[in-house]
Amino acid sequence: MKTVNIAIDGPAGAGKSSIAKEVASQLGFVYVDTGALYRAIALFAVGYADQSEFLKALSNDECELELKYFGGTQCIFLNGENVTDKIRTPEISMKASEVSALPQVREFLLEQQKSIAKEHNVIMDGRDIGTVVLPDADLKIFLTASAEERASRRYLELEDKPDAPSYEQILEDIRRRDENDMNREIAPLKQAKDAILVDSTTMGLHEVCEEIMALVEEKLDRE
Ligand code: DC
Repeated sequence: MKTVNIAIDGPAGAGKSSIAKEVASQLGFVYVDTGALYRAIALFAVGYADQSEFLKALSNDECELELKYFGGTQCIFLNGENVTDKIRTPEISMKASEVSALPQVREFLLEQQKSIAKEHNVIMDGRDIGTVVLPDADLKIFLTASAEERASRRYLELEDKPDAPSYEQILEDIRRRDENDMNREIAPLKQAKDAILVDSTTMGLHEVCEEIMALVEEKLDRE
């Protein structure tokens, strides 16, 4: 039976994961956070001083990634270790943006992402889901917000944590990642021709979820 696939792409900090998670839970779909796959590869890569050694290990199948779901929450395992929390650091964010530009890394993850979507009804978020991974997705959303708004949301999330970065540091990191993600040669971040643009700069999480749910219902009713 054909599965239903929803793609959500957009820049770092646009709220893709919070929104996709909520929409997936309302629809009973599997939420796939593809950024976690790139982050886990970045964590694997920091173990190598040399890029060619890292790529050799990747091609020798020494980097085994597995997504598991516990009560709808995605966990990622790297060579059997649950690294779900370890991959959420600013260093890994930047490293993921770097390694994701490598053709070998994108190739390594492509089939894995496609096969999850073939087996399950999914809402999958990332940078190239609507353009490369699921070009035939039933619905494509491009979710964005201004860099300042994205930095300010991230700042509010982190401000009570020890060693929280400043707003300026977060904004600089966001701009650097946007620059990397949008300008790489392979599968850069861009809006697919048939994606619907949702700009959440002046919208709350709840409002964005409602708008996306309305788009999903309209789309699924038509089919
Ligand atoms: O969504 P995220 O911030 O967790 O993603 C981390 C990095 O991984 C992001 O800067 C770019 C890369 N990425 C990608 O190139 N393609 C995807 N489909 C998802 C993430």
